[in-house]
Amino acid sequence: MTKTMRAALSLLAVTVALNTGVAVAAGDTARGENIATQGNGAGALACTTCHGPDGKGNAAAGFPDIAGLNADYLSKQLHDYAEGTRKSPIMQPFATALTEDDIQSLSAYYQSLQSPVSAVAYRAPDPANQGEWLALRGDWDNLIPACNQCHGPNGMGVGNSFPALAGQHASYLKGQILAWRNGTRNNDPNHLMKGIADRLSEQQISAITEYYAALPEQLAGQAEEKENR
Ligand code: HEC
Ligand code: HEC
Repeated sequence: MTKTMRAALSLLAVTVALNTGVAVAAGDTARGENIATQGNGAGALACTTCHGPDGKGNAAAGFPDIAGLNADYLSKQLHDYAEGTRKSPIMQPFATALTEDDIQSLSAYYQSLQSPVSAVAYRAPDPANQGEWLALRGDWDNLIPACNQCHGPNGMGVGNSFPALAGQHASYLKGQILAWRNGTRNNDPNHLMKGIADRLSEQQISAITEYYAALPEQLAGQAEEKENR
């Protein structure tokens, strides 16, 4: 077996192991909406102040789109901020001010909001499109697996471990890859993302983050083209 194949297989094994949990939102959605829009009265500001009334965030300000993300992924991130394995001077104080019940309710609420993409039919990647190629095929010469292998078709997210990337702001995605590189985000199971972040070139980071940010619009365009044919 080649080195590349062995690496692919061991990544697949981890993927399967991480992916067996079924997402069950235990929190109270209505209570979550209440905290999201008004804060919890104990130090956590209204989430909508930054993440917007629809959870879509703000690209220029660096506030990520959290609408439709998996509830278990969201709740893990809030715990990670509170525990400091994921560092953010903005989010850490809020996460620390949330009770377990607040976290569950907020996560259920944000999962219930509309996410940017759904699965569409498979399309072969264009080798001239570096972002699309990385997402669908990876760059095995540099031991970088296809992002969609873990993040799902069209980067729409898989289960409770692999967050959606499609439709997320490019600046935020870039920031997270750099955070894994410099160690301020150190919360990925088995360091799945740290290794990938270290191996991506600057150019690949730009290509892949711009690809995912623009994907929902690109897919909507393709669907329209088909209808008008
Ligand atoms: C003052 C602005 C601000 C407020 C208020 C705020 N956030 Fe955030 N949030 C941010 C920023 C900035 C980031 C990105 C931090 C980073 O780089 O890790 C973020 C990141 C997140 C993430 C990680 C998203 C991901 O894709 O991994 C979650 C989850 C989150 N916020 C939830 C909340 C919740 C729930 C509330 C309300 C209790 C809230 N935020 C309030 C600014 C804010
Ligand atoms: C082997 C599985 C795997 C592969 C392949 C993979 N990722 Fe990830 N990725 C993860 C996991 C697991 C997380 C969530 C870590 C956590 O719990 O915070 C993640 C999270 C992310 C995040 C943070 C999203 C957010 O909302 O904060 C970004 C950005 C990201 N990955 C980009 C990529 C890119 C770009 C590629 C391809 C070059 C890629 N990933 C390939 C497993 C993978």
